[in-house]
Amino acid sequence: MTKVPNSANKKPPQLLDQFGRHVDYIRLSITDRCDFRCVYCMGDEMTFLPRDEVLSLEECARLVKVFVRLGVTKVRITGGEPLVRKNSLRLFEEIGKLKNLKELVLTTNGSQLENQAQGLKNAGVKRINISLDSLDAARFKTITRTGELDKVLRGIQAAKLAGFDNIKLNTVLMRDFNDDETVSLVDFAIQQAIDISFIEEMPLGDVSHTRESTFVSNADTLNLLKSKYPLTASTVTTGGPARYWRVADTQTKIGFISPHSHNFCESCNRVRISCKGELYLCLGQEDKVDLMPLLRTHPHDDQPLIQAIMDSMAIKPKGHDFDLRRTEPAVIRFMSHTGG
Ligand code: 5AD
Ligand code: SF4
Repeated sequence: MTKVPNSANKKPPQLLDQFGRHVDYIRLSITDRCDFRCVYCMGDEMTFLPRDEVLSLEECARLVKVFVRLGVTKVRITGGEPLVRKNSLRLFEEIGKLKNLKELVLTTNGSQLENQAQGLKNAGVKRINISLDSLDAARFKTITRTGELDKVLRGIQAAKLAGFDNIKLNTVLMRDFNDDETVSLVDFAIQQAIDISFIEEMPLGDVSHTRESTFVSNADTLNLLKSKYPLTASTVTTGGPARYWRVADTQTKIGFISPHSHNFCESCNRVRISCKGELYLCLGQEDKVDLMPLLRTHPHDDQPLIQAIMDSMAIKPKGHDFDLRRTEPAVIRFMSHTGG
């Protein structure tokens, strides 16, 4: 095992797991709450965590600092919907100042961007991923249960106006919900000169449909899109599991995140931290370490936290195993708990 770093040790510390994978990317969920209730993400009735069981914004900032000390260079803030958390901008500003951090990025449903895009840009957020599953207002409401399409579209415009040039839409295609919108969503991305990724639905949490009934494979989506657009495989990687295709003569790249058909675990460089301070070593597995007790029992000493994070590398699983035919969810927790 690696030793706890100290200032005499010149070589920057690294988080290496037992399979030799280098963890340099964390995804931190800052709230389990959301103003939407997307059908693939949440049940009809959700109970959210009481305030004191959720990391404070100070604790979030402290955790990120510790991870950056351990060689993490990319941080994604997620949720739930991160921007519904009160004063979340302060956290972005604090993280944006960290010297050794190369990329601060955000995943959002877009509902709050109209007012917050400029502040986020000023805070140093580099890239924004915005969920968008339909361009039809009524259908958008069916999928998100509470969301308003217009607000999100205004949010996308606000992000463009604020000067973000790496905006990406995230779309979860579901059979008989929105799979007939594949091409119109890509057309929209092209027209807006932004990127779009298709994410296969993952069996996280118990929802009101069976996952098999709505599953759309990215292989089928790619075939459909190849018949409509001149696509060339792109070598671009954002350090994530998406594979990208360029649409010739446009600014748009189309990404495919395929947890079922393409196993991307061998090159996994990330860990996730839930809004409760649980360090999840894999999105599709239960292996975790509780960091909250360490944060709270040692408010002024980061060493126990650092040790726990370094030790966690020994239990990072080799990969996940999603099986659509299974009726129970692969993992009981929802994406909004661990962070997407
Ligand atoms: N399967 C696939 N994608 C999901 N998301 C949330 N829950 C699921 C799921 N069960 C997506 C959201 C968002 C991204 C963070 O994760 O649509 O775009
Ligand atoms: Fe909210 Fe995102 Fe989950 Fe939809 S997918 S309910 S926007 S956290």
